[in-house]
Amino acid sequence: MNKKILISGGAGFIGSNIAVKLLQMGFEVTILDSLSPQIHGKDPYNDSFTFKTILSSDAHFIKGSVTNRDDWKTALNGQDMVIHLAAETGTGQSMYQIEKYNEVNVIGTAILLDILANEPHNIQKIIVASSRAIYGEGKYKCALHGHVYPEARVEADLAKKDFECKCPICSGSVTLMPTDEQSLYKPTSIYGLSKQTQEQMVLIVGKALNIPSIAFRYQNVYGPGQSLSNPYTGILSIFSTQLKNNNPINIFEDGKESRDFVFIDDVVNGTIAGLLSNEADYKTINIGSGEATDVFTVAKQLKKQYNSDADIKITGNYRVGDIRHNYADLTLAKKHLNFVPQYSFTEGLSLFCQWVNLQEIQNDKSQNTFAEMKSKGLFK
Ligand SMILES: NC(=O)c1ccc[n+]([C@@H]2O[C@H](COP(=O)([O-])OP(=O)(O)OC[C@H]3O[C@@H](n4cnc5c(N)ncnc54)[C@H](O)[C@@H]3O)[C@@H](O)[C@H]2O)c1
Ligand SMILES: [Zn+2]
Repeated sequence: MNKKILISGGAGFIGSNIAVKLLQMGFEVTILDSLSPQIHGKDPYNDSFTFKTILSSDAHFIKGSVTNRDDWKTALNGQDMVIHLAAETGTGQSMYQIEKYNEVNVIGTAILLDILANEPHNIQKIIVASSRAIYGEGKYKCALHGHVYPEARVEADLAKKDFECKCPICSGSVTLMPTDEQSLYKPTSIYGLSKQTQEQMVLIVGKALNIPSIAFRYQNVYGPGQSLSNPYTGILSIFSTQLKNNNPINIFEDGKESRDFVFIDDVVNGTIAGLLSNEADYKTINIGSGEATDVFTVAKQLKKQYNSDADIKITGNYRVGDIRHNYADLTLAKKHLNFVPQYSFTEGLSLFCQWVNLQEIQNDKSQNTFAEMKSKGLFK
């Protein structure tokens, strides 16, 4: 019998791509998703690329929320494994929708685990999507103090355009290192904290119930299917929508802030490797490209790909809760899952842009989100 896999949040970007791959591999796939309007628009049947992908596939779709016990129970019925991706995902937004982010991300996961702890089920594996956001600023090296984990940057420094992280012991300058899984939990946003709670809950309860569990700490995932209308997350989409509207790209800080951009197919392959092998059971594993790319470079490359004349403005603005840099140490992913990213940033970006070129141009709502954050003192 083919294994039955439940994917919560499976109508979204990462989940729909995993679903398609699992179906190709012969698995039965069920999706539990609330079709959040922020991601899928008001009319998901017409507006959402990823939901339409699911509708035209052999996946079984259940519209429901992870905050509803009955929806979880219906979805879990008869399943062998669960990939829990459903979440609110905006780092900035999480700083003023604190209850909502906890309700969906923390309580949504708690209900899943409550059901597994208290009711009959066949679940033999739980995968939960964690995030690099749990590390906050991540790992650095100080010439005097060795490996250090800087605190969130202070506003007085940011206001002076002094954006780099400091040694938490001597306040001296530090060198960026790849962040490994042993690094400290230091989330700088409610989103990051909710991801930390999610992964720890899943690993603690998974261990207690003898259900092999894995938390994947994804870096910045990009690629075809990423929401082009959600202005709260996904820097490549946000910039693409700005460029396609011929609006200037506003880059925060000095543009030298960097992220680890990992192509969706690599994330799909890494996650499925975890599903099928038992080598990573009960572990937290980084999934990324293992390389840092700065935001100004991202903007320039996108502008080139779209042949756009739009301006790239480095504004010096900053958001409370944003980190400066982060990239993944992939040693454990390689060791346990033989995970090696297959796509360079240039290759992945080109595939992403080819896909964007085929999509309808979305309204650029980014200015509204800046205004929203500004009114709450979270954007300076
Ligand atoms: N994309 C990234 O760069 C990235 C990085 C790190 C971690 N993650 C994590 O990976 C997971 C998937 O992210 P994604 O990029 O595919 O996001 P996405 O927004 O495209 O997908 C999330 C899905 O969850 C659904 N959802 C939201 N609230 C729900 C609820 N209450 N009940 C049921 N479904 C609900 C949404 O409708 C959406 O389809 C999330 O847990 C996210 O935190 C993503
Ligand atoms: Zn120091």
